[in-house]
Amino acid sequence: MRGVLLAGGTGSRLAPLTDTTNKHLLPIAGRPMVEYAIEALVRAGVTEVMVVTAATYLDAFVELLGDGSHLGLAALDFGGQERAGGIAEALGLAKSFVGSEPMVVMLADNIVERSLRPTVAAFEANPVGARLVLSEVTEPEHLRHLGIAEFGDHGEVIRVHEKPQDPPSNYAVTGVYCYDATVFDVISTLVPSGRGELEITDVNNHYIATGNLAHDVLAGFWGDAGESMQAYEDVNDFVATHGVNKD
Ligand code: DAU
Repeated sequence: MRGVLLAGGTGSRLAPLTDTTNKHLLPIAGRPMVEYAIEALVRAGVTEVMVVTAATYLDAFVELLGDGSHLGLAALDFGGQERAGGIAEALGLAKSFVGSEPMVVMLADNIVERSLRPTVAAFEANPVGARLVLSEVTEPEHLRHLGIAEFGDHGEVIRVHEKPQDPPSNYAVTGVYCYDATVFDVISTLVPSGRGELEITDVNNHYIATGNLAHDVLAGFWGDAGESMQAYEDVNDFVATHGVNKD
């Protein structure tokens, strides 16, 4: 199983902190944000990882992370995205690195309290299609800023709605996704959304349409530290008080 960490984008919601650096290099409880995502993958048993970031910050990531061995990685590759063309576009840059292996993709601004190992193990046992990780979120205003799952009669996900005005459930799609290598064929069929990006939600809805999407619900805290300045501060406080990436 390969890991792909997506650390590009503009980080505009954390301006002015991100005017001169990449969001995933900002500190959370004394460590660069991206290290928590790497730690989450390593503790889930995924040690061959590619980090995709904005081309302008590639050198900074290489300088920070090196060969990744000090963080428990066996292999670390890097990719540079020329413009913030979307999460799915960034994932497409990992095609050669991943090859025909199954993969776990993580947005590098996501922080999880509990281990991702159960999800990774479930996908390794049946590495077909896609597997999402959901988290329960109660505040409606928060739900409107995320991808939200709509469920069918048997508890299956029948659609993901990106930033819906009227959220169909309280379950957010976290930035942790497992895919088989067909994801690169799916990405090649995508057209840019209204905001000019190749959307990961379109990828996930493709797997729903073909009956190849499973999901897990994450236990414990989940935070998207890039969602807003408030979220960044809340995630920082949680990590400092409770710690994360626990078994
Ligand atoms: O965090 C979970 C949410 O992440 C999901 O609930 C949403 O369904 C999903 O679309 C995404 O929403 P965001 O609004 O948080 O996406 P954002 O554009 O902020 O990008 C999230 C991460 O993806 C960011 O930390 C870096 C990476 N990224 C993003 C873009 C647009 C890239 O690497 N390249 C990009 O071009």
